[in-house]
Amino acid sequence: MKIYMETYGCQMNEYDSGMIRAMLESSGHTFVPRPEDADVVIVNTCSVRERAERRVLGRLRHLRGLLGRDAALGVVGCVAQRMGGLLMREVRGLGFVVGTDSYSVLPEAVERAGEGVATIETETRSDEIYDRRPAPSRAGLCEFVSVARGCDNFCSYCIVPHVRGRERSRPADAVVREVEALSRLGAREVTLLGQNVNSYADGETDFARLLERVSRVDAVSRVRFATSHPKDLTERLVDAVSRLPEVCEHVHLPVQSGSDRTLRAMNRGYTRRRYLELASLLRKRVPGVALTTDVIVGFPGETERDFEDTLSLLEEVRFDSAFMFRYSVREGTAAAALADDVPEPEKIQRLERVIETQKRITSELNERLVGEVLEVLLEGPSERNPEKLFGRTRTGKAVVAPAPRDLSGELVGVRITEASAWTLHGEVVEGAP
Ligand code: SAH
Ligand code: SF4
Ligand code: F3S
Repeated sequence: MKIYMETYGCQMNEYDSGMIRAMLESSGHTFVPRPEDADVVIVNTCSVRERAERRVLGRLRHLRGLLGRDAALGVVGCVAQRMGGLLMREVRGLGFVVGTDSYSVLPEAVERAGEGVATIETETRSDEIYDRRPAPSRAGLCEFVSVARGCDNFCSYCIVPHVRGRERSRPADAVVREVEALSRLGAREVTLLGQNVNSYADGETDFARLLERVSRVDAVSRVRFATSHPKDLTERLVDAVSRLPEVCEHVHLPVQSGSDRTLRAMNRGYTRRRYLELASLLRKRVPGVALTTDVIVGFPGETERDFEDTLSLLEEVRFDSAFMFRYSVREGTAAAALADDVPEPEKIQRLERVIETQKRITSELNERLVGEVLEVLLEGPSERNPEKLFGRTRTGKAVVAPAPRDLSGELVGVRITEASAWTLHGEVVEGAP
């Protein structure tokens, strides 16, 4: 059958969509680039915030209207896991609802949907690591590789542990085999994924050791990882980042709040002081390291003072960039029992204030790069300036530079000529270093 798939949410979902595609292709299906041409449309969904979920529901209804009677529409991912059969009531005529631990049933669910029989499969299987998945058959220049699934941290606001189940690590050998296969297919950069990669453990290998093994794979010139939880960031890991030349100098270390009171209520397991210590340890041991973060404003009970603690932490750490969110109540989480007492207009205002602060800091840090020559992996034509190439620095910053197409896929030196909060502009000064 012809399948079209759309993906929302985080890198985990991107990765899972690739795995689902490989599973379905190996059962004989083909993928098409437009929903109108498909027999089956699959939407991989995110439920991390209410807005993400509302957007998915709207999109599903829209797709249902767009598709002919014969085409089936199926939902996978975190909203499928969270809502299960209830989704059938929200969107009429769904062909299947398959949760995050049940992707092995997809080949069958797709067949049955084609015959007009619906499947609902949202059992939690906390040992599912998809170890019988097909080997990758294609690779881009930059690829994700999931090293662990699930999360045991239960930050009080977060739905992820509820929709992704308990944390489990894939065997290091399987991860390395997958990276080898991807590198043979052309990948030069891999990002190792887990909700909390620092607690990766397969019985013999910890995350620092896994980084070492992956770095040794031929033709992989860059290794990244996400996400690091501050409470589990070890010296061993910091040491691995500083020692291994392939591992990029970029750590995404979500802080969420700068107030100890709020951090405690969020069940984050560290204090502001501990976080600041980690940030300075990283800065000291990994010269030029980029630190990025996630911030939530308007968590239950967050006072103006708590919020100012977050602002001052941003000023103190000077992150290279940050994802910033308004708190959104997720049913079933511990924080849902607390009064969502920061008024919406106040949340919006706080969000504007953190964004403004961070944008200034990001611009200031980026402007300091003007004149420097940075290593950039050129990925291909820039979406906004198709006549130029787009790439990223080792620190993860987006760079746009005029360059001949055949440099696509190459590591080059780029002299930065202009910088804003979002993009660096530059010119290629040397070919592959
Ligand atoms: N495992 C990762 C990613 C979790 S989801 C981590 O621990 O960082 C990505 C981000 O979404 C979180 O870091 C948090 O900032 C935000 N987020 C999660 N739940 C949220 C909620 N209920 N409301 C607002 N933001 C939320
Ligand atoms: Fe959610 Fe916390 Fe787990 Fe991240 S570490 S996925 S924020 S529960
Ligand atoms: Fe969303 Fe699920 Fe990722 S809720 S953020 S897609 S783990």
